[in-house]
Amino acid sequence: MCGIVGGVAERNVVPILMEGLRRLEYRGYDSAGIAVMEDSGIDRLRRLGKVQELQNALDKQPIRGTTGISHTRWATHGAPSELNAHPHMSHPEIAIVHNGIIENYETLREELSAAGYKFESDTDTEVVAHRIHQHLQDSADLVAAVRKTVAELEGAYALAVMNRNQPGKLVLARAGCPVVVGLGIGENFVASDVAALLPVTRSFMFLDEGDIALVERRQVTVFDAAGNQVERPVKESELTADAAERGNYRHYMQKEIHEQASAVARTLADRIENGVALDTAFGENAAAVLDKTKGVHIIACGTSYHAGLVARYWIEQLCRIPCSVEIASEYRYRSPVVPDGTLFISISQSGETADTLAALREAKVSGYVSTLTICNAPESSMVRESELAMMTNAGPEIGVASTKAFTTQLAALALLTICLARRAGLEERQERALVAQLAELPGLIEQTLLMDKSIEVLAEKFVDKHHALFLGRGVQNAVAMEGALKLKEISYIHAEAYAAGELKHGPLALVDEDMPVIAVAPDDQLLEKLKSNLQEVRARGGELFVFADPRVHFGENDGIHTMRMPALIQDFQAPILYTIPLQLLAYHVAVLKGTDVDQPRNLAKSVTVE
Ligand code: AGP
Repeated sequence: MCGIVGGVAERNVVPILMEGLRRLEYRGYDSAGIAVMEDSGIDRLRRLGKVQELQNALDKQPIRGTTGISHTRWATHGAPSELNAHPHMSHPEIAIVHNGIIENYETLREELSAAGYKFESDTDTEVVAHRIHQHLQDSADLVAAVRKTVAELEGAYALAVMNRNQPGKLVLARAGCPVVVGLGIGENFVASDVAALLPVTRSFMFLDEGDIALVERRQVTVFDAAGNQVERPVKESELTADAAERGNYRHYMQKEIHEQASAVARTLADRIENGVALDTAFGENAAAVLDKTKGVHIIACGTSYHAGLVARYWIEQLCRIPCSVEIASEYRYRSPVVPDGTLFISISQSGETADTLAALREAKVSGYVSTLTICNAPESSMVRESELAMMTNAGPEIGVASTKAFTTQLAALALLTICLARRAGLEERQERALVAQLAELPGLIEQTLLMDKSIEVLAEKFVDKHHALFLGRGVQNAVAMEGALKLKEISYIHAEAYAAGELKHGPLALVDEDMPVIAVAPDDQLLEKLKSNLQEVRARGGELFVFADPRVHFGENDGIHTMRMPALIQDFQAPILYTIPLQLLAYHVAVLKGTDVDQPRNLAKSVTVE
C-alpha cells in the first residue's frame, strides 16, 4: 500500500528518497513521485508505473534538494495516473504525500472549490494540501496549519508535508497509518517503515496515534493529539540494510520459500527448554494470562487468517477449550459475545493491517482476559498496542505473497497450543513428544523443499488453466485455502478451496477435464474419507494432483498425479510441511505465466486502509 519517504539533510536527499522508494516497492503501488526543495522552490516529478520509470525521468531531468518527500501510490480515489500520483501540491507552496483514506474528502472538496481552490486530481489527498494552504493564510505556522487540518479529517492517514517558505522542515502527522522517523547525524528522515531508511540509519522514533512531528535537520519535535510537546522513545533496529536483499534468487518469494527452514528454527529458538515450551515466548506476563484462558478468539486477514484456522484445530483438539477464528473486517463491525476468560489473538505478518488493528483496538475494551499479537514486525502498531506479543522472527518478507510469514505463524501457534494444552492436562511425556515434532521441522522443511524441481515440471500443466480447485480435510482444509490463495494472487488463476466432503454439495458441478483438482493427503484419520471424495472427482473426468504421504496409494492412472512428500510426517507437523509444495506450485506457475511474482497486480503487502 502507499509508501512515504522524506528527509531533511545538508546533502541532496534525492538519491536517499529514491532508494527508500525502491525498498518500499514490495508494499504494492501503481505510480511514484518525488518533490524536493532548496532555496528556490519546489521541484516535483511523478510517473505512472514503477519507481524505475521515475528514476529514468530523473536521469533525463535531474532535480536536487536538501528537503524532500516522495511516495509510491496504491490507487484508492482516482485511477492510477500521473495526475493522481503524489506528491500533491497546493499553489507552488505546499507539497504533501499521504498514506490512507480521507473519508470526508468530498465535503472538504466542495468547501475548497467554493473558496476558489482548483483541483487537478481525483484524489482525496489533494484536499488536504489545499486545506493546509488555506489555514496558512491565517498564520504562517505549518505545524498549526497541519493540526487544524487533521482535526477536520475523518479516516486514516500518515501525512508528510513541506512548505516552500520553510525549507529544512517537514511536518508529519499520523492517525491509523504507520510512519517512523529515522534519526541521522545532522539529518533526519521519515518513512512508512523502517526498511526504507536502513541504508541511512538504524535509529528510529515511532509516533503514537494522533501525533504531529516537526522534523528538522538537527531535531525532531513531537506533539501529541492534545497539542502537548512529548518525548517518544528511540529504538535501534536490529535489521541490517542487506536483510531485505534478493541475493541470487530470481524473486523475493522464491528466496522466502527457501528460507523457511531457518525462519521456523528462529521462531522456535529460545522458546523451548529441556523439551518443553516456554510461556515466556508470549511475554513476561503470559503465564498468568494463559492460566486464566478458558477460550480463544483469533482475528486476522488473508494468509494470517488461514494460520488461525489451523490453530483452531490444534487448540480445540489438544486444549479442549473453544476457539473461534474470524476475518478482521467482519469481526470489527459486529458485536461479538466475549465469554469470561477469552483471550483475543491477532495474527499479522506486518502488524499494520488496518482491519486487524481496528479489531485489536475494539478487543481492548471488550472484556477479554488479555490481547496477544503474533507478528513478524517488532515495531508495528499491533505489537505496541497488544498486551502480550510473540515475534515470529521470520526476517523481512518482501514478496506480497506471504510464505515464510505463514509457516512461522504456524510454528508460533503450535507453541501456544502446547502451553495452553499443558494447562488442560497434557502430560509432560506428551508435551515432549509434540515439542520433538516441532524441533524436527527445520530438517523436514529442507527435505520438502527438494520437491522444487519436480513441482517446476508439474507447473507446466497449469499454465493454460483458468480455474483450479484445492481440496483438504480437517486441518488440511486450511492448508488447501492457503494453497488456493497463493495460486490466485500471483498466477491470476481463479482458485477455490473446499473441504473435500463439501464437494458433492455444489462444486462438483464445476469439475471437468479443464478443472485441475489439487488435494493434500497426509496419512491421517480422514485419509480414507478424502480418498472417496477424490474418486468422486475422477469419476467426473477431473484431473487430480495429490500431494500425499509416502505410504499412501491412490491407484496411479492417467488422471491422477501423485507427488509424494519426501518423509514420514506426523500430524502436528503436517500443516506446515504440506503448505510448502503448494507455495512452490503457485510460484512456478506464476513464473511460467510471466506475472509480476513479487508485486502482483492490484495487491499490496501491507494493507493499511480498510
Ligand atoms: C497473503 O499472501 C497476502 N498477501 C495477504 O492475504 C496477507 O496475508 C493479509 O493482507 C494479511 O496481512 P498481515 O499478515 O500483514 O496482517
